[in-house]
Amino acid sequence: MTKEHGSAWPDAPLIFERSRAGRRAGRPPRPDLPVPELPSAVRRVTPPRLPEVSEPELVRHFTTLADRTFGVDTGFYPLGSCTMKHNPRVHERLAGLPGFRDLHPHQEDEGAQGALELMWQLQSMLAEIAGLPAVTLQPAAGSQGELTGLMLMRAYFADRGEERDTIITADTAHGTNPASVTMAGYKLERVETDARGNLDLDDLRGKVNERTAGLMLTNPSTLGLFDEGIEDVAAIFHDAGALLYYDGANLNAVVGISRPGDMGFDIVHYNLHKTFSQPHGGGGPGGGPVAVRERLEPFLPVPRVVQDGDVYRLDSDHPKTIGRVRGFAGPFGVFVRSYAFMRAYGPGLREMSEVAVLNANYLLARLKDVYDLPYDRLCMHEFVLSARNLKRAHGITALDVAKRLMDYGIHPPTIYFPLVVSEALMIEPTETEPKERLDEFVEAMRKLAEEAAESPELLKEAPRVRPVRRLDEVRAAKQPVLRYHFDEHPALVG
Ligand SMILES: Cc1ncc(COP(=O)(O)O)c(C=O)c1O
Repeated sequence: MTKEHGSAWPDAPLIFERSRAGRRAGRPPRPDLPVPELPSAVRRVTPPRLPEVSEPELVRHFTTLADRTFGVDTGFYPLGSCTMKHNPRVHERLAGLPGFRDLHPHQEDEGAQGALELMWQLQSMLAEIAGLPAVTLQPAAGSQGELTGLMLMRAYFADRGEERDTIITADTAHGTNPASVTMAGYKLERVETDARGNLDLDDLRGKVNERTAGLMLTNPSTLGLFDEGIEDVAAIFHDAGALLYYDGANLNAVVGISRPGDMGFDIVHYNLHKTFSQPHGGGGPGGGPVAVRERLEPFLPVPRVVQDGDVYRLDSDHPKTIGRVRGFAGPFGVFVRSYAFMRAYGPGLREMSEVAVLNANYLLARLKDVYDLPYDRLCMHEFVLSARNLKRAHGITALDVAKRLMDYGIHPPTIYFPLVVSEALMIEPTETEPKERLDEFVEAMRKLAEEAAESPELLKEAPRVRPVRRLDEVRAAKQPVLRYHFDEHPALVG
């Protein structure tokens, strides 16, 4: 595995370059139905210029693209913070069961009892995992959960007649935290991390006051460290009458072991697409349910699933609710997959987190002699190394390491985040990787450190054997080429 993979991607033409005027993938007979006339104001004057290809060419185009894609199903994907774990295939069968798949969002409750029961059970399991009693399933992503949580805080304080305008986040916070704070109309205050990677309690004490609405924190943090002072942190906020929001993106480390509610958090979001397994790319698609303490329950979004005896129904009768945050009852297919995942583990769900933590600590122990380790502690489900030693000695950056890993058939870890660590490499193996795969990663990372000393150009020029070489990222961002101009290639137009 520490050999470069040979290039399996000969240059393939663009779909536009495959195009020849008049070619078609298929010509189904026109249905014998009236074609409604479109008003001329909205009708195109000239037909759009689209690629014109035969069906085999079309299939080849998409198959080539699919072949070039890298995902958890192709190889190791240790993308810190994103929890890219295996998605059991049976989930797709279950989400595709006709009773779930064909359910209409406007179906009356009586005709959707199975789906409502599943949602109710999911709410109950999530409540137990968080250690908080009430759950809404509506938000469709972690970031939307954050916004929902902040709206709940606002409604809660407004109801009490308190004016509080500031939310505190950590300097290690994920970018969505400050973004959500700003979107929710709060002022943002940042608290520093101390030398052990915990929230700096002295800094915190100086920043919390009667204007503070709450804290937004992920624990374990984006450094992969469990905050050792979390009970003191909770006391500081609660003594000031403020609330604690738990960004549950890192819940994969603690399920069945510790509960945010017991740590003192009042509002929690889960990233169903990380902790409870969903196919997801950067940022979703997924589910970001939110759990709250009793005193925040009246403000939760509606509708909520409730149980009346043996019957389940959607309930919108909550006068203090913040309203809907998403269409209908939330991203239902995601609920089916996460429910199936939890039921398959059953009471052994704790093992998921234990193995995730074990895998991360195994990698950490085997890599900390070749990369800098800014916070030398046992980690949780992920950890942050730094390539600054390679940069100092050989001019090799975290970006070079990430790009070279691709030549070894491994997806790069998250880099340059969290911001408090220079040349950061944020590594999250997840619990679904076998030891051999972890060992391959270790070998590749160790080999890269050798290459940095002996042949730094290999890293500077990487990736060398992937379909796309190193990009000019600034140019790609500033001058994106989003259109193909057929008229610049008359020979192809036919
Ligand atoms: C720590 C943390 N918080 C929040 C989020 C946002 O979650 P989502 O991508 O579901 O919006 C992420 C996503 O990566 C995260 O890692």
